Amino acid sequence: MVENTIETSAPGKVILCGEHAVVHGYPAIAASIDLRTTIRLSYADDATVYLPTLISNLPRFPISEIDASMHSITKGKVRLSSSTALPIGTGLGSSASFAAALSAALLFMQTQQLDLEEINQLAYKFEKTQHGTPSGIDSTTSVYGGVIRYQKQELRPVFTQVKIAHQLPQLFLLQTGVPKETTKEMIAFVREEREKNTRKIDRIFASIGEIADRMEKLLQFKETGEELEQLFSENERLLEELGVVGDKAKSICRELERLGAIVKICGGGGKKRGSGIALVLHPEKEVVTTYAKRQNLDIYDVQLGEDGVRKDDLQ
Ligand code: MEV
Repeated sequence: MVENTIETSAPGKVILCGEHAVVHGYPAIAASIDLRTTIRLSYADDATVYLPTLISNLPRFPISEIDASMHSITKGKVRLSSSTALPIGTGLGSSASFAAALSAALLFMQTQQLDLEEINQLAYKFEKTQHGTPSGIDSTTSVYGGVIRYQKQELRPVFTQVKIAHQLPQLFLLQTGVPKETTKEMIAFVREEREKNTRKIDRIFASIGEIADRMEKLLQFKETGEELEQLFSENERLLEELGVVGDKAKSICRELERLGAIVKICGGGGKKRGSGIALVLHPEKEVVTTYAKRQNLDIYDVQLGEDGVRKDDLQ
């Protein structure tokens, strides 16, 4: 019996604009970040892991519990461990990066290759078990990497890599507090709001969709003036109107705006406690770091446009 081991990793993501509206078919833009989740899968060469069984047996896969759930499924022939540099459950795509890296490892185990389309389809299935009706933007960004314009459509999503023509403004990710709600709950909340007030919510979605289209174009221009920054602010106001930004995050946004920053919540958001990660643009790093320190808020310095899913060398 030969032991085989494979290690795969996939990046987290930040949504530049369009979260929530993207679930309802509007365009959005996301970028991978240089914080990754790594999966190590060891399997005996006579291990028969039947993928559909594995998927239906993995209704939930919190990173901390994955070892236990995999053992029970595979009767000891497959060992799986994972680690992540991403904060969990705060809108930076920890679950999507996990789904992408896991899908890559499982498919490689079967086919000895990494087919991104196949990985993305499997990762999306994992994401659905976790988030109900996600758009697929998180897993697609994690699988392909880079900056992605994504639009969910009836039959299959349409997505393209956006080529950035200029230096992006200095950007920080600030933790406004881990949301009490899961992304699944926030998606369900928005759906209910839309059922109650379709006209209002559809108007918000349409405005968010226009922001995504304008941002896609601007990112490809050499000079953007202040228009790019304004788009982030407009998107933040629309997310607040949608009701996915809680009071705590709103007051953090207003304080930072008074200090000259542009701020936008990223991902599913949250109402009751924190609203997860906020994207902060400010020309002076010092201003943002001093504020974060004073308020005792975590701050992440990240690079955008990291590689997508990949097979890593074993250490
Ligand atoms: C979560 O990162 C982004 C949401 O739009 C959900 C989704 O697109 O699946 C809130």
